[in-house]
Amino acid sequence: MTQDEMKQAVARAALDYIKAGLKPESIVGVGTGSTANFFIDELAGIKHLFEAAVASSEATAERLRGHGIPVYDLNAVAGLDTYVDGADEFDAGLNLVKGGGGALTREKIVAAAAKEFVCIVDESKQVPCLGAFPLPVEVIPMARSLVARELVRMGGQPELREGFVTDNGNLILDVYNLKIRDPKAFETELNNLVGVVTNGLFARRGADVVLMGTQAGVESLK
Ligand code: 5RP
Repeated sequence: MTQDEMKQAVARAALDYIKAGLKPESIVGVGTGSTANFFIDELAGIKHLFEAAVASSEATAERLRGHGIPVYDLNAVAGLDTYVDGADEFDAGLNLVKGGGGALTREKIVAAAAKEFVCIVDESKQVPCLGAFPLPVEVIPMARSLVARELVRMGGQPELREGFVTDNGNLILDVYNLKIRDPKAFETELNNLVGVVTNGLFARRGADVVLMGTQAGVESLK
């Protein structure tokens, strides 16, 4: 199986996972990235079973609308039963690194609004210790250098994501050279840096379930 075939398989598994719980008034939270895109394409086939979606990025909103799925503003809904999204890395505690696609802030907001976060990945995303994938940090543009110096002090090697502006009008620093041994504490420490909007660690609100596509099929990890 190719990586895309594993992503496709896991997207189908996520659809099966959420389908039974859908009601006509359900609003589904939808993530961003290539795995999430496979999920959106699957979701289109059952759009008659739920009311609408909330999107974690402009790109996702556009793809959902392209399939005729209504997209609601998060402020218009009381909460979400489910959020389905990919990840760049995950560990045994179902802590995640996200934001490879730069949508981390809206992803974290939609995940926070959902009762259940279903993370969909292929097996290449499983790691013993988070940090091999450069950790994305969204920063207010005027704080870019200030935050970068703090990240160096914390042992990281930040690099500005060149030519990239987030959906919120901010910049991304990708932080290399990290070994994140205590993801919850590190997430909090980064959140406390003035000028940081969000960091890509999803540990305080990690995944509730990870569906992982492997060569042997889809594994469910809780
Ligand atoms: C986007 C994300 C994505 O979930 C993450 O980058 C994984 O993407 P892909 O499914 O394309 O591997 O966090 O901000």
